[in-house]
Amino acid sequence: MAEFHVPPGLARPRSIVVRRPRIDLSPSVPSASEIPRHWWGGDPFKTHFFDALSSTFPFGESFFVRSVGYYADRVDDPVLSADMRLFAAQEGHHSRLHDEHVKLLIDHGYTFLETRNRVLDGILRWHNRRTPALALAVTAALEHLTAILARQLLHDRGGWVADMDPRMASLWRWHALEEAEHKSVAFDVLMRVEPNLFRRNFAMTLNTGGLTLEVCVRMIYMFWKDGLLFSGSTWMRGWRFLFGRGGFLRGVDREYRAWYRRDFHPDRLDDRDMIAVNTPLIAAAGDFLD
Ligand SMILES: [Fe+2]
Ligand SMILES: [Fe+2]
Repeated sequence: MAEFHVPPGLARPRSIVVRRPRIDLSPSVPSASEIPRHWWGGDPFKTHFFDALSSTFPFGESFFVRSVGYYADRVDDPVLSADMRLFAAQEGHHSRLHDEHVKLLIDHGYTFLETRNRVLDGILRWHNRRTPALALAVTAALEHLTAILARQLLHDRGGWVADMDPRMASLWRWHALEEAEHKSVAFDVLMRVEPNLFRRNFAMTLNTGGLTLEVCVRMIYMFWKDGLLFSGSTWMRGWRFLFGRGGFLRGVDREYRAWYRRDFHPDRLDDRDMIAVNTPLIAAAGDFLD
């Protein structure tokens, strides 16, 4: 087994807390069915950008859990083994809640998402069985991308979520916080059991393209269903939201590129302050059962 040590002096939040969310997004729950179609301040682009991401999570995060769990017997570090279990528990809750969100989207008429998710779930299960090392590298790479998105969402103390429907704001705040907490688990497992640099970089390049394409396909579909596919103002506002001054994805390229450094580790980006600021905000919102 390869020796792997976290570089000394790195920030390791490592306090992975499994929260039981009070939020229930099942379409049968009246408060959930009242969530507007364009729940982010009435803006179709912002809403569907996050709808597209959210709709990939039910099968995507189940894939992450299987990819990491496959190597449970190969990890003999008790701290990392415990973190792997907490990672699985957090992702399990995320997957379930986002599945409820997908049902809500299907209820709103975006029915293609159901078939698309079933097909992709089948492909990813095959991926887990046939290429487990690549599946783990893909998981670690996608965890780096989700950690970047989580940082973007939380670093301004809730400014992004302020315009969201409150139920969706709780979903995203909670998910982003837990992504920041467990961001290095899959990477640490990867570096212990399958630390091939080429595979790690290949997984990131492949999945940056794959995730971008998947999000675009889903957004285009939802815009088409809304009759907004050819609305220039929707696309312009969206472009500004993502890449304009202070945009959601503005400035993430440095963090993204850090992955390709030989000495990369997720904890080189210190999220402890962000986690410390957001944990009481989330607890105070009363969104959790314990
Ligand atoms: Fe997650
Ligand atoms: Fe995650």
